[in-house]
Amino acid sequence: MSDKDIDEHSGVDTTGHEWDGIKELNNPLPRWWVIVFYITIIWSVVYWVLMPSWPGITGYLKGTRNHSERENVTVQMAALDAERAESTQRLIAAPSLEAIESDPALHQFAMAAGASLFGDNCATCHGAGGQGFKGYPNLNDDAWLWGGSLDQIKHTITVGRRSLHPETTNTLMMAYGRDGLLTRDQINDLVDYVSFISGQAEETEAATRAAPLFASQCASCHGADGTGDQIQGAPNLTDAIWLFGGDRATLYETLWNGRAGVMPAWDERLSEEEIIALSVYVHSLGGGE
Ligand code: HEC
Ligand code: HEC
Repeated sequence: MSDKDIDEHSGVDTTGHEWDGIKELNNPLPRWWVIVFYITIIWSVVYWVLMPSWPGITGYLKGTRNHSERENVTVQMAALDAERAESTQRLIAAPSLEAIESDPALHQFAMAAGASLFGDNCATCHGAGGQGFKGYPNLNDDAWLWGGSLDQIKHTITVGRRSLHPETTNTLMMAYGRDGLLTRDQINDLVDYVSFISGQAEETEAATRAAPLFASQCASCHGADGTGDQIQGAPNLTDAIWLFGGDRATLYETLWNGRAGVMPAWDERLSEEEIIALSVYVHSLGGGE
């Protein structure tokens, strides 16, 4: 056998290994590749020495730099907590809720905290974006049952509405049909009347007939002109924005069975600063007064 066994097809030197007539060509790895490979080996040794590497039975090889990602996170969390505690203190110390909104940094803090609290506590009933559902008011619009000022919103959240809180408001929309306060015909007339004052239908004979009935039975809560009363949580019936619905069937159902939506009280479940953050957040959703 000669020193060099050149493969006749490719013209490349062979290694001398041969299996069933198939010879292994001697194509060495490119030099740059080999160099990089050795560098990575050297680097890994340097890394073992400097950084945490091998696991042991009671711990691990810590490395000379004593690096710990867990400790870094702990330090960062502590710094964040300290920063939060300061903003939380400032939320409570603010002279008014309006003052929070006019301080950009504090407002931003309240909005971030409020958004996450809203998602955890309120979104199930009011929707993720506060858009509401039937019976659960939309918090984005300008229509307020109980008032959309910062203080009114805070009061609603703190004591709830028709909740178990001793200071809550308990006014009801009575069950005029079920409890026999009005007849079917009277209720039908009132449905026409409400459809008319909300601008959904023309004035019918029945609507005209119901006007005095509305004045005697409904105006004490919904107002003589039907625009509602926030002290009693009686909705505006003229804006065609409905809590339960403005179609004939739903109006009839509201008048027949009454309504008593419950907004829970949060004063025992959330802290003062959390309620403040939520008030600012809800106020900023779009319809704040
Ligand atoms: C169990 C369901 C439920 C949950 C949870 C809930 N709400 Fe309500 N909320 C209601 C209902 C129902 C009403 C309407 C009450 C009524 O008909 O007068 C309401 C009313 C309100 C109002 C008054 C709206 C207006 O038009 O005046 C505000 C503000 C409000 N909720 C904020 C919140 C916030 C903030 C949270 C979270 C901390 C929350 N709600 C959690 C059911 C809920
Ligand atoms: C004692 C006060 C009171 C009286 C009197 C009253 N309402 Fe109401 N009404 C309310 C309250 C409060 C609500 C809201 C209930 C809720 O939020 O669950 C309401 C809700 C309604 C709604 C539902 C509105 C919507 O957005 O879906 C209609 C319609 C309505 N009332 C019509 C009438 C008519 C017509 C009368 C007269 C027969 C009347 N109400 C008498 C307090 C009253």
